[in-house]
Amino acid sequence: MSRVAIVTGASRGIGRGTAIRLARDFKAVTLVARSAESLTETADLVRSAGAEPLALSHDLREPEASGAVVKATLKHFGRIDALACIAGAVLQADLFALTDEQWDDGLALKFHSARRLTLSAWDALKASRGSVVITSGTSAYTPKASLAAVGTINAAIVALAKAFADRGIKDGIQVNSILPGSVMTDRRRSMLQGYADTHGLGLDEATEKFAVEIGIARYGEPDDIANAIAFLFAPESHWMTGTALRVDGGESKLV
Ligand SMILES: NC(=O)c1ccc[n+]([C@@H]2O[C@H](COP(=O)([O-])OP(=O)(O)OC[C@H]3O[C@@H](n4cnc5c(N)ncnc54)[C@H](OP(=O)(O)O)[C@@H]3O)[C@@H](O)[C@H]2O)c1
Repeated sequence: MSRVAIVTGASRGIGRGTAIRLARDFKAVTLVARSAESLTETADLVRSAGAEPLALSHDLREPEASGAVVKATLKHFGRIDALACIAGAVLQADLFALTDEQWDDGLALKFHSARRLTLSAWDALKASRGSVVITSGTSAYTPKASLAAVGTINAAIVALAKAFADRGIKDGIQVNSILPGSVMTDRRRSMLQGYADTHGLGLDEATEKFAVEIGIARYGEPDDIANAIAFLFAPESHWMTGTALRVDGGESKLV
């Protein structure tokens, strides 16, 4: 196994779970997020799971960060076979409250960093006949006024991945988006706290009520998404490209 992966958002949540899962299938994993301390913890877990970690602390909203991540990965490991763009922190706010700056901030991290990383890694991925997964969310297809930027940016990501996949047909690169449903992470907990506050409930009660309301038997775990990403990076899925893969416990009933 000589393959090398890059995972963004690797300091916690879905990104950390994915980095640890990929350590079983890859020789080395580059880990990217802002928090150096949390990345060191992820790096230890990746090493224990069998891969060599490279922890890179960057604010991916900065335009030059994506190129720096690709350059450092190639310098350390010499190749890139897989890119998992998971970093995201789009503000959970109402359509009529969001400012231009807040829209730009959400786009800068979740959309533009995935776009820039994919562009920067393209030649290396072409050489390895590699694979890219960009994280969207089921709200891409069910946008709500109360969470307008989340759904809209997720929809843009589905389209972005399809555009890269179109070019990837010629260049031998597989590109897909993944659409998680309600996965229990810090981000989900903060969404549930907002729901609890709105409904005048405690957090535990709100967590239970929300699951019933959206019709799921349980919340997802980071591993539920990590395993699907590992599949999209496995040779068995190589003919799947331009796909938006929904992993949501049956919540959204979309294609
Ligand atoms: N959880 C869900 O239910 C759910 C549902 C649908 C889609 N998603 C999507 O899945 C992705 C991961 O979500 P999550 O729930 O795991 O979120 P999370 O627990 O809040 O983790 C977000 C990750 O992004 C990183 N990040 C945030 N700002 C960054 C920046 N400026 N530069 C670099 N890295 C940054 C964070 O690290 P640092 O803070 O250390 O930088 C962290 O590693 C997001 O794109 C989210 O929209 C999640």
